[in-house]
Formats: sequence, structure tokens, C-alpha cells
Amino acid sequence: MSSFPPVGDPRLALRALMMPRDTNHQGTVFGGIILAHVDQAGYIEARRHGLHRWVTASVDRVDFKAPVHVGEVVEFKTRTIRLGRTSVAVQVIVDAERLDGTWVHVTEAQLTMVAVDAEGRAIPFRDSPSQKA
Ligand SMILES: CC(C)(COP(=O)(O)OP(=O)(O)OC[C@H]1O[C@@H](n2cnc3c(N)ncnc32)[C@H](O)[C@@H]1OP(=O)(O)O)[C@@H](O)C(=O)NCCC(=O)NCCS
Repeated sequence: MSSFPPVGDPRLALRALMMPRDTNHQGTVFGGIILAHVDQAGYIEARRHGLHRWVTASVDRVDFKAPVHVGEVVEFKTRTIRLGRTSVAVQVIVDAERLDGTWVHVTEAQLTMVAVDAEGRAIPFRDSPSQKA
């Protein structure tokens, strides 16, 4: 896999409002809920490189830096940090807006997304006519 410098500033991939159903017994948001959104954000970033199917090959790193609470708006920003032949590595930066309006950096993750055909086989994504980024 070839290495590229980070491609620009992180771009907004998605935003979500944390609901009571997203919390654990301690009243903070489950890490798994954050991870599910991180996974979606990774897909949204990968899709900017081509409008085909993409799957998550690996979650290479996740750092939960601060808790998230019910009622907070959470933003998932992404940037591509490595372009391979059939895969891209994506950094996901997660910030939460506290109820007083302040923003806190809560999570950071890195994923590898792979472009696949209808049979689930890895395919090169660069030649795609639908490439957007
Ligand atoms: C991802 C998947 C298509 C890769 O299949 P494969 O037979 O290993 O494919 P290849 O060996 O040709 O590798 C394809 C690319 O994926 C990368 N890759 C494969 N496994 C990887 C892993 N565990 N971590 C990081 N990158 C990985 C390879 O480096 C290669 O990248 P490149 O072409 O940019 O150099 C296959 O493992 C798969 O379908 N996994 C399940 C995906 C899924 O269901 N995700 C949701 C999980 S809940």
C-alpha cells in the first residue's frame, strides 16, 4: 500500500444526537455506539473515492479521549490518510457539543476501507469513472 500525506483538512461526514437508548448503566454513551458511527463515517469518506461498494477491513486504532452524554450532538469528521490500490485508510475525528455549547474532542479512530465488487472481491478504486475525491 503506497503512502500519501493527509489529504486536506478533515471534512464533516455525519452528525448525530445522542439519545437515552445510546447510554450504558453509568449514563454515558456506549463506546459501541460511537464506533458504529465511526464505521459509517469511514464509509462516507471512502465513497468520496468512488461510488462502489466499500467494506471495513479493519479498525486499526480507536482512542476514547472523553465521555459523551445523552443530549449531546456528536460530529464525525474524516480525512483520507493513505491511498492504496483497493483500500484507503481513513482517520475519523469525533467531537461532542456539550449542553453549554462548548466542543470537546472525544474520540479519534483509524479504519481501512476496501472497495469491493458485487461478489465482495477487492477491486482497484482509482480507475472508477465515479471517483469524486
Ligand atoms: C476486506 C476484504 C474484501 C479483503 O479481502 P482480501 O482477500 O484480504 O483482499 P486482498 O488481499 O486483495 O486485500 C485487499 C486490500 O485490503 C487490504 N486489507 C485486507 N485485509 C486487511 C486488514 N485486515 N487490515 C488492513 N488492510 C487490509 C490489503 O492491504 C489490500 O489493500 P491494497 O489493495 O490497497 O494494497 C475481505 O477481508 C472481507 O470481505 N472482509 C469482510 C468485510 C466486512 O464484512 N466488513 C464489515 C465487518 S462487520
